[in-house]
Parts: sequence; C-alpha cells; structure tokens
Amino acid sequence: MYKKQILILCGVLFTAMIYSQQGFVHEQSKGYVWPEEKNVHEKLDSWQDLKFGVLFHWGLYSVPGIVESWSICSEDVDWIPRDSNVSYEEYKRWYWGLKDQFNPVDFDPDQWSDVMEKAGMRYAIFTTKHHDGFNMFDTKESDFSIAKGPFKNHPKADVAKFVFEAFRQKDFMVGAYFSKPDWHSQYYWWDYFATPTRNVNYKIERHPERWDKFKQFTFNQMQELMTNYGDIDILWLDGGWVAPPRQDIDMDRIAAMARSNQPGLLIVDRTIRGKYENYQTPERSVPAEQLPYPWESCIPLSSDWGWIPDATFKTPVEVIALLIEVTAKGGNLLLGVGPTSEGIIQPEVEVILKEIGDWLKINGKSIYNTRITPHYHSGDVWFTADKDSKTIYAHYVPENDKKIPSVIEWEGNTPKKGSKVTLLHIQKQVKWTVDGNKTRIVLPVIKNHINLPLVFSFETSR
Ligand code: GLC
Repeated sequence: MYKKQILILCGVLFTAMIYSQQGFVHEQSKGYVWPEEKNVHEKLDSWQDLKFGVLFHWGLYSVPGIVESWSICSEDVDWIPRDSNVSYEEYKRWYWGLKDQFNPVDFDPDQWSDVMEKAGMRYAIFTTKHHDGFNMFDTKESDFSIAKGPFKNHPKADVAKFVFEAFRQKDFMVGAYFSKPDWHSQYYWWDYFATPTRNVNYKIERHPERWDKFKQFTFNQMQELMTNYGDIDILWLDGGWVAPPRQDIDMDRIAAMARSNQPGLLIVDRTIRGKYENYQTPERSVPAEQLPYPWESCIPLSSDWGWIPDATFKTPVEVIALLIEVTAKGGNLLLGVGPTSEGIIQPEVEVILKEIGDWLKINGKSIYNTRITPHYHSGDVWFTADKDSKTIYAHYVPENDKKIPSVIEWEGNTPKKGSKVTLLHIQKQVKWTVDGNKTRIVLPVIKNHINLPLVFSFETSR
C-alpha cells in the first residue's frame, strides 16, 4: 500500500516536472544581482531612460508566416501548430528547406529604422539567430544562413550588420538577440537521435566532447557578433533552458570575451538569475507591481513575434497604455514586430506605430528619462516622475472605447499648493481642486478630442 502511494507521488512529481519544463512564456526571475562594473551600471541607467524599444523576429519562419522556430520542436502543446498530414521528420525537412526560398529582395533596414523612429522608439533588438539555428548574420561557423542562400549576392546579405547600422544612425541603442539552443547544430540536436524536446538530445555526460564542440561553436558565433558588427549595447540571450548545471555553456568565458570587445555591454541571459541577467524580461506580461531593479516587458504587437498573415494587431491606445503602465512600474517596453519575408515593415504596422509616435512626440516628456514615484497608481491614473522627483506626471488612461469624462480625479500625489497643473498635449493650464487626498481636474473643452491618454504635469508638495 505504502509503496503504491510512493509510486503515485513519483508519477505526479514527474508529470509536474515535465509540464513546468514546457512552459512557453518565460517567467521573470525573482532575484536580481546589480552589476559590479561601473560602465555596465552607467549603460543600464541610460538604457532605463529609453523606455521604448522594438524586438524584431525575422527568420525562416517569416517565409510561410508561422510561429517562430517552435514548429520543429516535437513537444505536444497547443501553441505549437503543425500540419498533421505529414510526419514530423518530413515536416522538419520542409522547414530546413525554407532556406532556399528566403530571398528578401525588398530588404530595407532604413525603412525599418524610419518607422521605429517615428514610433518614438529608442532601441532595437534583432534576432541574429533564433532556436531553429538559422543565422541572420554571415557566420563562418555554419552555411545555414541568410548570407549563403538565394540572398547571398545582395549587397546587404549580411543582414544583421545593416539592421544595426540603420538604427545606430538614428542614435538607437542596438541589441543582438541570440538563441543559446541551436536546433540545427549537430552539437545540439544530433541526427543520431530523435529530437523529442527543446533540449539537447544526447547525454552530455556520455558525449562530453560533443558538448564541448557546442560550447566552442556558441562562443565563436557570439565572438563574431561582438567583433564584426560595430558597437553593440545589448546581448539578449534567449533559451533559458540552456543553463547550468545540465547545459552549461560557460557564461563566464562568453561574458568576458563579449565585454572585452564591447565595454559596458548589457548582458541579458534571460531567466538565469545572477550577474549575467542585467535586466529581467517578463514576457507577454507586465509585473503586478513596481520592481526595484531594471526590467523590460517584451510583448508582441500582434499575437506572434514574427510576421504572420492576417494578424490582429494591438491598437495604438493599447500600446500607449502598456507603455504608461510599464513606465510607472519602472520598466521598459520592448514591442515585438515581425518584418515580412520580403524584408519590410508592412504598411498596416507602420500606421499603428506612427500613431503611438505622434502621441509620444507631444507627451514623451512624461515617459522618456523619467523614474518611478513611490505612489504610482490611482484608478485610471498612473504616475511617473522627473529624475529630480520635482515634477510628477499623471497619466489618465481611458478605458477602451470609453469617452474621456470632463472631470478626472486621483488620490495621492497632490499638486503643490498654488502651483500649476498643465495638460501636456495642449500646453495649457487646467483648473484643479483638492479635497483631502483627492485631486480633481476639470478638463477644458478641447476641439477634436481624441480618445488617447491625457498627461498632466505638476509639482508636488513632497
Ligand atoms: C519566448 C519564445 C521565443 C521568443 C521569445 C521572445 O521565449 O519561446 O520564441 O523568441 O519569447 O521574447
């Protein structure tokens, strides 16, 4: 009887383990370790001023417009759709073959950077290699690359180089997304075995020399990125399951190499708590409360990271509301955008982003370069503060489709007695009264009032 119970318990624990390994969305890690290096600290501080960035997912998956990389991973979960008429092995062959179709003849990184600049973004992260192992840079380590397929004779065949360049020219910080797992490498998914999960598919203890090769291969690729692609601000490492103790790629060695080439580099070894996770990256979500250390919510503009046909996009108001909430809680917002397989940002996305940028152009003071204020939220209103804490910004975020009322109220963060409260987008003072802890703003009549968040700036008595 007792034995049976233990067996059942083991079964439950085992199932729980499997499921916890298969979580799609990366959890943010709890502990944070402040970097010791002064220049990393400084870079973090400047990065926190930027608030709004873009994360491009561009790769083989952009050709048919499917989920990024994951469809070749044989885990049985609902978010990995795959044609059920072909066998897994056949499917993989088809997927690898996409390399011969990927020919982004309209590739125009200046259009990308134009669109993102107009959106009010200030940093850009680009997928140099996703989990499928397809390289979006000209690596010497593999032929499985955009620079070796039909696009190889194009003057911008080393696409990562030109993406970084286009954004640096607009004073963006630039970051290289790099997936630690590589499902195309024989040192990670070895053809000798099946590939049932996202993990390395052989026992590292039995084949240590193969794993050593993987480590060297990964090191070499990151070295290429850190030496041949100009100044890089962020190394954004995905695939958190590649980590010690089992899948140790020697981050100390990688980080030392990376920082010797890119002083002050921010290393974001996602979900791996410790000194190489210089900021945390809650995914598709915003933390419930303010966090006292650097972080960034990464959230795609559509339902997917890469380009997919007939996507439904978030509205400009939704994105602005996210940006406000994230800023009030002390984070940055990294918005996911997928360029098309031809190599451009589609017009529909451009229109949405432009509206966000137009809002930021007149209200951006309340977002960029701000820091958190202890009291940051009251009903529909979110607060941020200037770095010197003198000026407070109150953002009123209208609920979807709800008309903006003529009176707006919040609790806490009371304006200083006799001071002015300015409605930012019209640069006009508004009438305000205080009732105990409550501030009440009477909105002036504004012509062509649009249903976008309103920002009030004022000094507090704190
Ligand atoms: C998740 C997905 C990965 C994607 C990343 C972007 O980790 O697994 O495919 O690139 O999110 O944040």
